[in-house]
Amino acid sequence: MKVLIINGPNLSRLDIRDSSIYGDLNYAELVEFITDAAARNGFEADIRQSNDEATIIGWLHEAADLNLPVVINPAAFTHYSYAIRDAAEMVKSPLIEVHLSNPLSREEFRHTSVISGVANGTIGGFGAHSYELALIALAKLVA
Ligand code: DQA
Repeated sequence: MKVLIINGPNLSRLDIRDSSIYGDLNYAELVEFITDAAARNGFEADIRQSNDEATIIGWLHEAADLNLPVVINPAAFTHYSYAIRDAAEMVKSPLIEVHLSNPLSREEFRHTSVISGVANGTIGGFGAHSYELALIALAKLVA
C-alpha cells in the first residue's frame, strides 16, 4: 500500500539545523530511513518535502482524492497554518502528525498544533524513529 509522507519547511536542511534538537541524519539519510521503515511495515513511501504552503495543500488534496494514508511533519506550519489544517481535515484515510523533536518541551509557540485536532494521532520527540512509530501505527490503522 502507498503512503504519502509530507515534510514541511526547512526539513531539507537538517544537515545545518541543530542536531541536538533534530538528530544526526541529513535529509537524504532521513528519506532513506523512512523508505526502509515504510517497507518493513508493508508500505511504499512517496516522500515529499516543500517549503511552500500551497504545495503542501495540493499534496493533501491529492491524498484526499486518491484515498492515500498520510504521515505529515508540517514543521513550523504545525503551529499556525489553518489552511493546511483544513486540507488535512479532508483526508479521510488515516493521517498521522510527526515531529523529530518534542515541540511540547520547546518554546511556547511550539506548544500549539493546529494540525493535531484533525490527525489520528501525533508522535514527536523520537527523531527519525517518530516516522517509524507513525508507520507502525498506520499499519494497524489500515489493517
Ligand atoms: C518540527 C518541530 C517544529 O516546531 C519546527 O518548526 C520544525 C520541525 C520537528 O520535526 O521537530 O521545523 O516539526
